[in-house]
Amino acid sequence: MPMYSEEVIEEVRSRNDIVDVISSYVQLKKSGSNYFGLCPFHNENSPSFSVTRSKQMFYCFGCHMGGNVYTFLMEYNKYTFPEAVEELANRCGYALPKQPMTNAQKARQTKRTKLKNIYKDAANYYYARLHSSGGKVGMDYFAKARNLDDDTMKNFALGYADKKWDSLYQFLKSKGYEEEIMKDAGLVVFDEKKGPRDYFINRVMFPILDANGNPIALGGRVLDDSKPKYLNSRENEIFEKRNTIYGFNIAKRTRRDMFILCEGYMDVIALHRAGFDNAIAALGTALTKQHVKKLKDSHKKIYICFDSDYAGVDAALRAIGMMRLLEVDCKVITMEEYKDPDEYIKAKGAEAFEERIKNAENSFLFAIRKRREDFDVNDPEENNRFFRNMAGRIITIPTEIERENYIVVLADMYNVSPDSLRELVRDVSKNKDELNAIQEEVYKGYSKSDFYNENDSSKVSAFSKKTDAKNKGKEGLKETEGILLTWLLDEPSLYNSISNYLEPLDFSEGLYRDIATEMFTALSEDKEFEPASIMCAFEDNEAHQEIAKMLHTKIEGLESKKDKETLLKETLIKLKNEGLNNVDKTKPGAGKRIRKIKEDIRNLRDIDLL
Ligand code: UTP
Ligand code: MN
Repeated sequence: MPMYSEEVIEEVRSRNDIVDVISSYVQLKKSGSNYFGLCPFHNENSPSFSVTRSKQMFYCFGCHMGGNVYTFLMEYNKYTFPEAVEELANRCGYALPKQPMTNAQKARQTKRTKLKNIYKDAANYYYARLHSSGGKVGMDYFAKARNLDDDTMKNFALGYADKKWDSLYQFLKSKGYEEEIMKDAGLVVFDEKKGPRDYFINRVMFPILDANGNPIALGGRVLDDSKPKYLNSRENEIFEKRNTIYGFNIAKRTRRDMFILCEGYMDVIALHRAGFDNAIAALGTALTKQHVKKLKDSHKKIYICFDSDYAGVDAALRAIGMMRLLEVDCKVITMEEYKDPDEYIKAKGAEAFEERIKNAENSFLFAIRKRREDFDVNDPEENNRFFRNMAGRIITIPTEIERENYIVVLADMYNVSPDSLRELVRDVSKNKDELNAIQEEVYKGYSKSDFYNENDSSKVSAFSKKTDAKNKGKEGLKETEGILLTWLLDEPSLYNSISNYLEPLDFSEGLYRDIATEMFTALSEDKEFEPASIMCAFEDNEAHQEIAKMLHTKIEGLESKKDKETLLKETLIKLKNEGLNNVDKTKPGAGKRIRKIKEDIRNLRDIDLL
């Protein structure tokens, strides 16, 4: 992957006006100094997606997606960062320099390129074999046993590995590949006695494609009932199971507002074949934290459609727990009576499946329905335990009104009075141990911080934490900081009035302080500050979203100059007070810092800022 210097990245960014770029994807209308449109990252009917020329940023007030022109291209087109740079360089006719790389970078890049090439060649080879006379068994399997048409086989690049034990090896050798790369790719095994042997023999082949449709691994299925049913090439520099979502390269373009998440290759393929272009799967592994984060980033709803056996239900409950934790909207489509979506489609057809989508079950209710099967409801004792479990689950719901809705629905479903269920909820909420155990069960032992790097507070704050009172305080502080930064950005002249009382050190450590530092430096030198430019220093898009959010804080209650004075003063004092609590008293200089903050607060109370 090429690495471009900061200067180049900034040059390319500044030559592409964000309003122009986004206009070619989203219809925008001017309103005041901003442009508004329907957000492409979530479903909405009235526009809350804003693009601001002076900030060179976009931000959605609905789903909080935001960033600069690079973030937009990466999120919208699922580009990597270099791809976004290249696209914009092309767009403005800027010639990107060839990058000098370190030896380690070079070696890594060469390895990655070789791996990409070898999978591409191998997948093409297997694809050609499938369509040759020697591939008839494979073709019969796909076309007859699994009812696939040519288009589907082509879209998924399906292939066939024949019965000879070194066909692929010979082919790759003729293409000039070294044995080491064949081995690292997991395509050929080198046995000391027997010599080179293809890893896939007499199997139908399923290339695993990355989000851009390039093969990064291969899976192969037996043609009969022998074991193991599926083999996968190994993980390496370009393939990690925990990060890969099968079918995503196609599903990312779906017009539907949800993904159908299933378990297997054939489920995804059968669903696509039946017209559901939004089917995806996590392959050969349970759904991981990384998968869930990717799904959250997609801003789509997730319909879980796993196998109906015990393992499938268990995996669904685990997935539901993780998604609830990350507030991903999810539902469950059950395949009861059938093994999996593939068999369901084969037996009942696409229309019936569409009906199941329509009737998809609320994931919270699904989890309770399944949990009930663990209790003997004819035993009053167990019945009681079931209802306590239900009450504990209700407590995990963040808002009062939702809890109340569920109480009414569940009481009706399970034949108890809403009042006795409310009573149970109160009772269980007093019992910490019982409640903890139930939470552990709901979230499968995960907590929010598992999904993000704990050292990076900015990332954790990128999503709302309705249930956590301590963090609510933090969110409130960030809002205060956001008000000041947004205000300064919109009205740079304010800087002179407040610079005596405010410094970057007053802002929360991490992203907020970093941005404040950049902004204050620019303002003190009377330079224009364009936040979009410093975003490039932060690699991941979550930081971009957080910055966009910070600099789009809504400032309300500014009717008169007096209002303005009051709000500004209050905001500054609030921030200072908060800073007072956060001084680390074990560090040298703490006493001095505390004295300085207290003095600032005293001064702020006494003077007029504006
Ligand atoms: P299943 O056993 O449910 O297979 O495994 P399936 O998808 O119904 O397959 P068909 O319909 O018989 O062809 C689900 C997924 O688990 C992984 C594969 O990714 C498979 O699609 N798996 C399964 C393996 O990696 N290895 C195996 O031996 C079996
Ligand atoms: Mn199946």
